[in-house]
Amino acid sequence: MNPLREEAHWAVKAWQASGQQTEEDSAVLFHSWDAQKRYLDHLAQAFAHSEALHAVAIKTQPHLEILKRVVEWGFGLEAASMEEVQLALKAGCPSDRIVFDSPVKTRSEIAFCQENLPGLRFNVNSLEELQRLPEQPTFAVGIRINPMVDTGAPSVYHVSHDESKFGVPIGQREALLAAIERYPVVQLHVHSGSSMAQLDSAVAAIESVVALAQEANARLAAKGLKRQIHSIDIGGGLMPEVLSEAPSRMQGYADALRAACPDLWDFQIITEFGQWSYFYTGYAYSNVEYAVQRGGTRVAYVHLGADFLLRDAYVKPRGIAFEAVGEAANRPSVLTDIAGPLCFAGDYLQKGLTMPRLEEGDGLLLLNTGSNAYALWSRHCSRTIPAIYGVDYDAKRLDLLSARFNPFV
Ligand SMILES: Cc1ncc(COP(=O)(O)O)c(C=O)c1O
Repeated sequence: MNPLREEAHWAVKAWQASGQQTEEDSAVLFHSWDAQKRYLDHLAQAFAHSEALHAVAIKTQPHLEILKRVVEWGFGLEAASMEEVQLALKAGCPSDRIVFDSPVKTRSEIAFCQENLPGLRFNVNSLEELQRLPEQPTFAVGIRINPMVDTGAPSVYHVSHDESKFGVPIGQREALLAAIERYPVVQLHVHSGSSMAQLDSAVAAIESVVALAQEANARLAAKGLKRQIHSIDIGGGLMPEVLSEAPSRMQGYADALRAACPDLWDFQIITEFGQWSYFYTGYAYSNVEYAVQRGGTRVAYVHLGADFLLRDAYVKPRGIAFEAVGEAANRPSVLTDIAGPLCFAGDYLQKGLTMPRLEEGDGLLLLNTGSNAYALWSRHCSRTIPAIYGVDYDAKRLDLLSARFNPFV
């Protein structure tokens, strides 16, 4: 049973009944506060580390009102660009709870961090980048390590192979140890890939980074230096899951880490989970503008397409669930393709679904749109971004987070 289903049907009805829907609102997006809180609390419980910094990846869901909640609840934010650092600041995130991971930071961005962001978690992407840093940084310097493992992530999301543009290969051990001794490095960072299928390799990757940190700390101490590596940033990468009674995948991951490298808990643990945190927190609704019969297939044309679900259209469907809303749900099921609104042949949200026969004027609910959807909104065909509502299902409240707007015209 999809945990968002009941809430989503309620939210669509409440929105329609609220009179907030205008002629132009051909689609609308929703965000579940209850689900967001449930996932973040579960993450904190799974790692059970008093000083953990769970920095949720902004790139997965950058809506300012949603980031504000992350911060309000005591979590941190991971920024992949200076613009995301600015978003984190706007959301009220203290600089020591922001992790800055851009692989292409400019010299002026580094200067801004030095002057304005004390305690920022600043991960360099290469040893060369260390040379750009001030001698006495006001921020905490980390090095991103490429652990050189295959986590079974799809090739577009796999970042730990030998040609990856991310991080310093762990095989360059001597160079890494020398750099840690020479520069004011205090943390190590690893993000092995997104949608990792093999968690064993992810655990092995973190184990190898912990071993590197321990070796570096022994060397620093032997040289009489007080500085130590105090934090290990383990990145994100877990696939989304429905949280139920059974031990979760997140709990299994944390337990496997505890078993394989208990010493990780001697460091401050930083995490950067994105899609796991948000996938099951979002849903969307679109009018069915019209539907046509093409041979044995019903093709329903809707107002959300590859501009919203870019990964689903360009890579492969990620598990968005489609449901007819209202009276349409009782019609007999037929073979259906869901066509998006863009002038692009690949703009299908999904093909070959079996679902109630859709007609002009019906409504379509899209469940599980919380991650890498609104965040990846594409300007292809320059369509308007729908209004976004925050839903408090317990309190039966619907709040407008941002109105329908078009940043392109
Ligand atoms: C450095 C870094 N951290 C965290 C994430 C979030 O990954 P995920 O959404 O798979 O948890 C990404 C995703 O691209 C990333 O590049």
